[in-house]
Amino acid sequence: MEAAVLDAGSKYLKAGLAVPDQDPSIVIPTAMTKAIDEDLGKENGWLSDESQWLHDTVYPIQRGVVKDWDAMEDLWRYVFYTDLGWEVGSEGQVLMADPLLTSKTLKEKTVQIMFETFNVNGFYAVEQAVLSIYAVGRISGCAIDIGHGKIDIAPVWEGAVQHNAVKRLEVSGQDLTFLLGEELEKSNPQTKLDSSTVEMLKETYGITADDQEEYAKKAEGCTTVEHTLPDGQTIKIGKERYTVGEALFQPSFLGVEGYSVAEQLVRSVLLCVPSESQKPLIENIVLCGGTSTMKGLWKSNTIVEHFQLVLLGWKREMNAIGFDTRFQKEASLLGTPSFRPSIIKPPEYMPENTMKNSAWIGGAILAKVVFPQNQHITKAEYDESGPSIVHRKCY
Ligand SMILES: Nc1ncnc2c1ncn2[C@@H]1O[C@H](COP(=O)(O)OP(=O)(O)OP(=O)(O)O)[C@@H](O)[C@H]1O
Ligand SMILES: [Mg+2]
Repeated sequence: MEAAVLDAGSKYLKAGLAVPDQDPSIVIPTAMTKAIDEDLGKENGWLSDESQWLHDTVYPIQRGVVKDWDAMEDLWRYVFYTDLGWEVGSEGQVLMADPLLTSKTLKEKTVQIMFETFNVNGFYAVEQAVLSIYAVGRISGCAIDIGHGKIDIAPVWEGAVQHNAVKRLEVSGQDLTFLLGEELEKSNPQTKLDSSTVEMLKETYGITADDQEEYAKKAEGCTTVEHTLPDGQTIKIGKERYTVGEALFQPSFLGVEGYSVAEQLVRSVLLCVPSESQKPLIENIVLCGGTSTMKGLWKSNTIVEHFQLVLLGWKREMNAIGFDTRFQKEASLLGTPSFRPSIIKPPEYMPENTMKNSAWIGGAILAKVVFPQNQHITKAEYDESGPSIVHRKCY
């Protein structure tokens, strides 16, 4: 049986058996609701079910850190025995994609749960940034992962994270959703929006302006889109969709002091030693995580709307671009003729969502090497050394 690869994020758990060059077979929200056993009137574990979010929701991972281990365990159990079809008593191997800065204690707790609760047959863990670099066919580069709960910037040299140069920013997709919700409340005071609707609007319309100047113009006035929600409410979205993208370049929009994501990345690379490594790192930027895929695709619900959007679309395209293009532009302004920041794209044959699922995809590539070559932690090794073996064999 192929090893199971897991990347548990603040928003989504990506999981599946290690089949390289494919998207994970399972992408489910990590948020869960408490299931109540009606007969017994007591809690009966956690279910991954977004439809019941309003009641007793728990977020086991917050800003990349596991906060509720019981819920986390329930989610892993569900993935192993329901989604992946493992049988109790013949469990497989696991490769875990860890967020940057996971503490030693949390790493030990994870390996302990895997061997002692799930009786896995082998275990390996690697930092997500390293796996994202592997996903695009490199071993060195600088990963910038803009997900839901955090932004992680990590230069990776020959498969090893340069920890002195790592930067974590505790803002990301969830903060953009919150910002958009606040902005839409101001411009559409009579409409009631829940956070999953705002998130959908962010993913559909969120976009970046060409530069700060262009954003300022958009904020003064730009084309407004009308979106009809399933309950019949209509919502108008204009400059708000640019504000969402701009916040990543002007963090003060999110109430945070600091550099734009592009400047932060360049600063991280400049901390890397030896200095000769800086050029290859800056020339291999891997932009990944759901938020980095912001493109502002306009979806149309009807044929009339479709034609309206096509007509409006040309106008929008004039000064609105995907996040990656704006990032490249801002980063280039910080470069020199011999230090040219450039984003690398995944090879053509890779799946469309490679940059959304890069840590999982890199994990699937690595699992094909680690387990057949016996580089992983075996059950016998775990039994002999205990959880601290994870620091010796992984990372
Ligand atoms: N097209 C899009 N435009 C803007 N945001 C998007 C788009 N697609 C996905 N997102 C956002 O990406 C985030 C999810 O990304 P991802 O799966 O990388 O996060 P995660 O791994 O669960 O979280 P983290 O790594 O921060 O712990 C959500 O906030 C989602 O709204
Ligand atoms: Mg993630």
